[in-house]
Amino acid sequence: MQAKASLHSLKGLRVLITGGLGFIGSNLAHKCIELGAEVTIFDCLDPRSGGNLYNIHSIKDLVRLRYHDILNFDQISQEVTKKDVIVNCAASTSHPFSMKEPWIDLDVNSRGVINLLEAARRFNRDVKFIHIGTSTQLGKLQYSPADEKHPEFPTDIYSANKSVSEKYVLIYSHAYQMRGGVVRLSNVYGPRASIHSPEFTFNNYFIGLALQAKAITVFGDGKQRRNVIYVEDAIAALIHAFQTDRFRGETLFAVGDEHYSVAEIAEATVQHIGSGSVNFVNWPKQRKAVEVGDAIISNQKIKEVLNWSPQYDLKNGLIETKAYYENCLNEYLR
Ligand SMILES: NC(=O)c1ccc[n+]([C@@H]2O[C@H](COP(=O)([O-])OP(=O)(O)OC[C@H]3O[C@@H](n4cnc5c(N)ncnc54)[C@H](O)[C@@H]3O)[C@@H](O)[C@H]2O)c1
Repeated sequence: MQAKASLHSLKGLRVLITGGLGFIGSNLAHKCIELGAEVTIFDCLDPRSGGNLYNIHSIKDLVRLRYHDILNFDQISQEVTKKDVIVNCAASTSHPFSMKEPWIDLDVNSRGVINLLEAARRFNRDVKFIHIGTSTQLGKLQYSPADEKHPEFPTDIYSANKSVSEKYVLIYSHAYQMRGGVVRLSNVYGPRASIHSPEFTFNNYFIGLALQAKAITVFGDGKQRRNVIYVEDAIAALIHAFQTDRFRGETLFAVGDEHYSVAEIAEATVQHIGSGSVNFVNWPKQRKAVEVGDAIISNQKIKEVLNWSPQYDLKNGLIETKAYYENCLNEYLR
């Protein structure tokens, strides 16, 4: 692990985290509280997403929790007022579910973002607005490593709606001079993730299987490579994004420095979690249809704009992850 980049105090900063009961949002809430911010979580605890009340059990008396849906414009309009920062972590996050129920994905991942932006424009135009995008917006890469200029050819409805909603954020930023920007993430792993289901990030599912001493199934030869990033690094990128005034109206990839094949990630997971095994099987037809091959992304731009860089390698991230789940695994298996 390299020396940790310092994050400034957030004392007194009023931060609204939509989707704050989920994986990224709850880790962000913990870090914001630790740094002195006043945190409000706005989350409807959507059963199809990775939200989990246990994620905030140790800070529940320190955050304001609002159980509402971002599709409820009146509620979100009330909550955007008197805030300095909004980080939108609310999303319908399952790729397969987006193919089964495209209308729900469209509602949450597109209309929901318009609701937030419009509420902010009408009732708190000066707020800093950070939205999270995803590397899967790019689809099959045309060059590698891909960067923020790479065209987007998403291969599923979730990624298509994430692509569209990112454009909404950039449009609001340019058209109304709002202080917003997009941080795109990719294969984030670590504490407080939805580790029980293959519907979400594959490396967290691998971690869940290894923690239960089960076999990790890798499709094909697993040679396709991916960036991975430990959640603490992703959270630091989000905080740097709202602390850096010159970051507005643009998109940054906050991805890890390291690239591994899916098979290597599975093997490292078994090694550092200390249990489980790896099993190779043929590609299921439906999964093969949306598979994009290597997906390697550059983090050059974010390093320059935010002066951020990842601090955890895969080994250290997995060791921290194991330590977290050791005492509370059952909270994440239901
Ligand atoms: N986890 C990753 O590796 C990853 C990678 C790329 C991008 N992202 C993006 O990061 C963001 C957070 O992802 P995550 O992994 O924390 O997902 P998650 O599923 O763990 O959390 C999403 C949260 O949003 C809430 N939510 C869903 N619909 C809602 C609605 N209509 N109103 C209010 N709340 C609602 C859920 O209850 C849940 O708590 C998403 O925008 C996702 O697209 C995540």
